[in-house]
Amino acid sequence: MSPKRMLDCRCLLVLLFLALMPLVPNGNLVGVNWGTMATHQLPPNNVVQMLRDNGLDKLKLFEYNEGIMTALTGTDIEVMVGIPNSMLKEMSEDPGAAASYVYNNISGYCYDGGVNIKYVAVGNEPFLQTYNGTYLPYTLPALKNIQKALDESGVKCHYKVTVPFNADIYNSPESNPVPSAGDFRPEVKNLAIEIIQFLYLHDAPFTVNIYPFLSLYGNDYFPVEFAFFDGTSKPLRDGNNVYRNAFDANLDTLIYALSKAGFSDMEVMVGEVGWPTDGDKNANIQNAKRFNQGLIKHALSGTGTPARKGKIEVYLFSLLDENAKSIEPGGFERHWGIFEFDGKPKYELDLTGLEVDKGLAPVEDVKYQQKRWCVLNTQATDMGELPKSIDYACSLSDCTALGYGSSCNHLTAEGNASYAFNMYYQVNNQNFWDCDFSGLATVTDENPSEEGCQFPVMIAYGSSMLLHGGDLLDVSLRLVGVFVVLFSFLL
Ligand SMILES: *[C@@H]1O[C@H](CO)[C@@H](O)[C@H](O)[C@H]1NC(C)=O
Ligand SMILES: *[C@@H]1O[C@H](CO)[C@@H](O)[C@H](O)[C@H]1NC(C)=O
Ligand SMILES: *[C@@H]1O[C@H](CO)[C@@H](O)[C@H](O)[C@H]1NC(C)=O
Repeated sequence: MSPKRMLDCRCLLVLLFLALMPLVPNGNLVGVNWGTMATHQLPPNNVVQMLRDNGLDKLKLFEYNEGIMTALTGTDIEVMVGIPNSMLKEMSEDPGAAASYVYNNISGYCYDGGVNIKYVAVGNEPFLQTYNGTYLPYTLPALKNIQKALDESGVKCHYKVTVPFNADIYNSPESNPVPSAGDFRPEVKNLAIEIIQFLYLHDAPFTVNIYPFLSLYGNDYFPVEFAFFDGTSKPLRDGNNVYRNAFDANLDTLIYALSKAGFSDMEVMVGEVGWPTDGDKNANIQNAKRFNQGLIKHALSGTGTPARKGKIEVYLFSLLDENAKSIEPGGFERHWGIFEFDGKPKYELDLTGLEVDKGLAPVEDVKYQQKRWCVLNTQATDMGELPKSIDYACSLSDCTALGYGSSCNHLTAEGNASYAFNMYYQVNNQNFWDCDFSGLATVTDENPSEEGCQFPVMIAYGSSMLLHGGDLLDVSLRLVGVFVVLFSFLL
C-alpha cells in the first residue's frame, strides 16, 4: 500500500471512530438515587442488571447496603455512598468509628473487580432548616474524620467526600430576589463556608439538591411553566442574565453565593432532582417525563446556566417508588421513581439527552405474589366500622393514590374501601386473615384496576420493613425545607 493510501485509511478509521463515539457508553453524566424505603425490595442483582441495561452508570445510595454493594461488585457503576445524619455525631466524636466505617463499608471494596466507589457523602441535608440545627456541630468534624480515615485507608482507590445540602442553605433577599443577590443563610453561613473550604482543598465537589416541583407544590402563585425547561413566556431578568427555568435560577443563586465567598470555580453537582408521578395535582406521568427529559437534555447540552457554562452533573431522584417513605411532606413522597416499585419504567426517558423517544429497560425476572386482590365485600350487612377500617388499612399501607389530585381520586366510596383493603392485604403478603376487616372485605381473583388507577399485586420478596405512622424522621423532614426557595424571585 502506498503511504498516501495508508494515510487515507487512517483518516477513514479516525472518522469511523469519531462517528461511533456517541455509542460508547461512558461519560454519561446522568446519575440516579436508589432509595430503599420500601416494604418489599427487588433483588439487588436484578436492579443492578437493569441499571446496566439502561446505561445508568452513576449511582447514589443514601446509606451503605450490603446486598446492593454485593450486587455492584464487579461492575463499573460509579457509586456514591451516603452516611446518614444519625451517624454524624458518632463519626464526629470518634475517629475510630470513622475509620471502621471506612474500612468495613468503603475501602474494603477497593480491589480489582470490587465496587467503583467514588464519593462518600457525609450526612444528607444536615443543615436543613427543619432540623433546628441538630447536625450543625457534627457535620464538619465528621467530614474531617471520614476524610482522614479515607486518606489512611492505604488502598489505591481514590475517594472524594462531599456533603449533599438542601437548597435551603442559600437564598436571595426578598428585597432583591434575583440569583446574583444569592448568599448563604446567615445562621449557617460561616459553618457552610468552612465546609466548602475543606471540600475545595480536597478537590471535592459541593452537592446540592434542587426541587422545582416543591417550589410549585403548595404555592399557587408559582408560575407552572417556570418549573420546566421548555420555555416560559415570562423569563426572569437579572442584569444581563435571563432565566427561563427555576432550576437554573436556583443553581445560579448557589453559584453567586459561592463566588461571594471566594469559590467561583468550586465544582458543583446536583445530588437530587426529579419529579413525582402521583400524590398531588402536579404530580403525574406527563409532568414527570416533561421535567426529567427537559432536565437531562439541558444538563448534558453543555449550555449550563447563565452564570456557569458546561455540562451539569445530576443525580435523578429517584430510581424506584418507595411505599414506606413518610408522607408528612405530601402523598407525592412515595412516587418519585422513574420506575414503579416492581421495576417497570413509568414512561419513556432518553438518558443520553438526545430526546429520541426511547423506552427504558425494566427490571427482569420479577416475581409477584398471586394474582388476587382484597376488595369490599358488598354482601356485608353492617358497614358501621367501614371508615375506621379504611383508616386503619391506609395507616399501615399506602393510600396516597386516593388523595386529591391523585390517580385513584375518582373512585366511588366503595372503590376507596376496596383500594385501602387491597393495599393493606398486598403489603402484608396476602395473608387471608389480612383480608377480613370483620367481614367487610373479601378476596377476589378479578382485577379491580381501572383506567389510570392501578390496584397493584405486590412483588414476592419478603417484607422486612413494616409501616408505622410517620416515625421516619430523617426522611420526613428532608423535603419540607425547600418549599421557600425561589418563591420570592417570581412574586
Ligand atoms: C456500615 O454502614 C451501615 C449503614 O449505614 C451502618 O449501620 C454500619 O454501622 C456501618 N459499618 C461500620 C463499621 O460503621
Ligand atoms: C424543631 O423545632 C420545632 C419548633 O420548636 C419543633 O416543632 C420540631 O419538632 C423541631 N424539629 C426537630 C427535628 O427537632
Ligand atoms: C375517597 O377517598 C379520598 C381520600 O381519602 C377522598 O378524598 C374522596 O372524597 C373519597 N371518595 C368518596 C366518594 O368517598
